[in-house]
Amino acid sequence: MKIRQIQQVLIALLVVSLLAACGGDATPTSAPADSGGSAEPTSSSGQAAPSGEPIPIGVAVAQTSNVSLFGQEQVTGAKIAEQYFNDNGGVNGRPIKLIFQDTAGDEAGAINAFQTLINQDKVVAIVGPTLSQQAFSADPIAVQNKVPVVGPSNTAGGIPQIGEYVSRVSAPVSAVAPNAIRYALDQNPDIKKVAVLYAQNDAFSKSETVVFQRAVTDTYKLELAPVQTFQTTDTDFTTQATAVLNEKPDLVIISGLATDGGNLVKQLRELGYTGPIIGGNGFNTTNIFPVCQRFCDGIILAQAYSYQQESEINQAFRKAYKDAQGKEPPQFSAQAFAGVQVIVEALRKLGDLSSMALEQTREQLNQQILAGTYETPLGQLSFTPEGDINQSTFYVAVIKMNDSGTDGTFEFVK
Ligand code: ALA
Repeated sequence: MKIRQIQQVLIALLVVSLLAACGGDATPTSAPADSGGSAEPTSSSGQAAPSGEPIPIGVAVAQTSNVSLFGQEQVTGAKIAEQYFNDNGGVNGRPIKLIFQDTAGDEAGAINAFQTLINQDKVVAIVGPTLSQQAFSADPIAVQNKVPVVGPSNTAGGIPQIGEYVSRVSAPVSAVAPNAIRYALDQNPDIKKVAVLYAQNDAFSKSETVVFQRAVTDTYKLELAPVQTFQTTDTDFTTQATAVLNEKPDLVIISGLATDGGNLVKQLRELGYTGPIIGGNGFNTTNIFPVCQRFCDGIILAQAYSYQQESEINQAFRKAYKDAQGKEPPQFSAQAFAGVQVIVEALRKLGDLSSMALEQTREQLNQQILAGTYETPLGQLSFTPEGDINQSTFYVAVIKMNDSGTDGTFEFVK
């Protein structure tokens, strides 16, 4: 008897160890495995990695067309934000997932991207589009569908007024552009006559040139040469450049996008203009360097971001950007990061989303976005009740090209 009992115990032990070796569960119940000291998945920040159903956030920027000179930088900034916030707990333990839809460079592309993100991808909010020109057509669709939109680069006047679901993290032309004129006049006190050019088929350029022209005539009481216009699709600027040179201005100010603006600078210089040039927000990308090459050197630009900003979050963003791209982060990337950030931080305040319908999440998210204060790579920001950004610090940079004109940097001077 005793021997049989010992045999039974030995057989039972053998069965248990065989099952364990095969990865089977020897316990009769299906109690969850006790972590019992085994490590939970963690992120690079050391926090528990978020789990569960990812929360979809739309990113509708230009990944193709000339406007992708800005859009590429926006995609990079948004992806860094996705990684950063998922590494830091996601949204109350759930990961976020960015869903990218290419707007290309026109209104139709932006409308399509918004519709797909809203109706098919069921995103909680959208960061986009790239151009103000696109925002005036696409944002009303988000407003109708009650989906929060955070503009990452729309700087024309009137953007937040499109509707109550529209906000932006891109400071308007009225706040940013005058900083460049102030700097140019400090450096060149003898400036008397100013030539202004702008892209007349682009909403941002039209809005920005009004600010520049008012500063020239009203604030600084300078002489304004006859204003020249062009199209963002133009490649030959001989007519405008010749007209400017005939006026013999002491300063040239251009509001356009990166390809047209860069080519205009190049042709102005080739035709002999040697004075200072201010470029508007459309010049604010390192992707302009291959366009105007060595002629980009010396362009003065106001900035809504400086990579030297000392906050902890900017240093984390700057490091992630430099590790990935091997250069300092530009304004469009920082603004796209900030756009994702305000959505993530507002989502965190909503608590458990699983019990909320999508419509309810979108509506409450919009209220939280507008109510919050955010420590971002752009500095501290919040929103006016209409959704415009409250941002206090702006900068001025001058483009410095290398001797061969193949590469350059934005050198911060203010
Ligand atoms: N700042 C530019 C715009 O608003 C890109 O269109």
